[in-house]
Amino acid sequence: MQNKEESKKLFIQTLGCQMNDTDSAHIAAELNKHKNYTPTHNIEEADLIIINTCSVREKPVQKLFSEIGQFNTKKKEGAKIGVCGCTASHLGEDIIKRAPYVDFVVGARNISKIKDVVDTKGAVEIAIDNDDSTYEFARAETSMYKTSVNISIGCDKECTYCIVPATRGDEISIPPEMIVEQIKKDVANGAVEVMLLGQNVNSYGRRFSDKREKTTFTKLLQEVSKIDGLERIRFTSPHPLHMDDEFIEEFAQNPKISKCIHMPLQSGSTNILKAMKRGYTKEWFLNRAKKIRELVPNVRITTDIIVAFPGETQEDFEDTIDVIEQVKFDQIFNFKYSPRPNTAALALEEQTVPDEIGSKRLIEVIELHKKHQSELMQVNVGKTMTVLFENLKPNGEISGFTDNYCQVFVKGSDELLGQFVDVKITEATRTALKGEIVK
Ligand code: SAH
Ligand code: SF4
Ligand code: F3S
Repeated sequence: MQNKEESKKLFIQTLGCQMNDTDSAHIAAELNKHKNYTPTHNIEEADLIIINTCSVREKPVQKLFSEIGQFNTKKKEGAKIGVCGCTASHLGEDIIKRAPYVDFVVGARNISKIKDVVDTKGAVEIAIDNDDSTYEFARAETSMYKTSVNISIGCDKECTYCIVPATRGDEISIPPEMIVEQIKKDVANGAVEVMLLGQNVNSYGRRFSDKREKTTFTKLLQEVSKIDGLERIRFTSPHPLHMDDEFIEEFAQNPKISKCIHMPLQSGSTNILKAMKRGYTKEWFLNRAKKIRELVPNVRITTDIIVAFPGETQEDFEDTIDVIEQVKFDQIFNFKYSPRPNTAALALEEQTVPDEIGSKRLIEVIELHKKHQSELMQVNVGKTMTVLFENLKPNGEISGFTDNYCQVFVKGSDELLGQFVDVKITEATRTALKGEIVK
């Protein structure tokens, strides 16, 4: 039973990836259900302040302590501070040692324990072998038309630059029936689109908590697409290594799957990919991208690129540029290599690429990508595209996304919200389209 008089306010700040967004939604829902916390955007009225952290690159970690210091000065008398997420996993009790006003620390693999630690001063829950994969979280708040559902926890890869396996532990798949059940509930509440989330979604189904038969991501996609009322399926991140023909064919022919795919390249150089332990070559990546483009002509392909990985020569970097030229990504998330604790690439320190070279390479990738983006977006002008409208702006514009996930703005009213509507595209910028409703 919830007691209204005890209602407390929760302020939660989320950094990092979409899994952290889902984790934060679960934290908020759990604390609402079990501890009667309701959300606030005003830090000064919060009884509990949580920061859900990311440690994938060094900068956000450096910022963490100045940020929680700020929270400590702004918080009201008696309010608590909790640190959750990936930096919580890897720094653990050191966070409380360095910032004693922090009340508790909950690692990214221990989110299910939030309701138990919230009232325990000094609690540190960061076990890397904790298994949340069959824990029934309270229903996370979702946007009206979209929901995000985790399909696995952890990551079994050992990419040599990446801290995630050390903060989220081994990969365990969430049972398909739990995933389908959750999506059905969200659809009953108005969702028409789902984002399936995992660090490596297309290795889904290899290990479960119980001794059940293995399955595959392709089979999961087929199960999820049977859900009545669910119109659009998205997923992230898939790994290029596991993009087998079966998967690509399902992606191409399943009408519910959004035709926008993330193909995290990291580097175009086979030598660097080897040093990163990515498991594929430049040629494999190009072959997969080509097959996807052949089967899905309107596909949009997004990627992640790391420049200046230790030992990256000019020639290696030119391989990355060559792949960008050949694939023409619709969106690139660019990063300069950042050395992380608990990663194998730390041993390559003596091959560090000078920072100014890293910066130059980053700029080159950004500039080339901008050029491609403009060209790719321009091609849409004059086309008619189906848009799911989801957001009404105060200026009378309404926006949504096409099936291949371009953002489109039109003049319109709230009766379009939640509808799939044909739009004639009249204008393109580098990042969005404008159009008119086809009557
Ligand atoms: N599991 C996902 C992404 C995890 S992290 C995947 O494999 O696609 C998101 C991105 O951050 C990675 O794809 C990578 O490009 C980048 N990244 C990870 N570790 C990094 C590091 N040490 N330095 C710079 N970028 C990094
Ligand atoms: Fe990190 Fe690689 Fe796992 Fe992605 S697949 S989370 S980059 S180890
Ligand atoms: Fe960051 Fe952890 Fe996600 S390190 S990118 S929050 S998995």
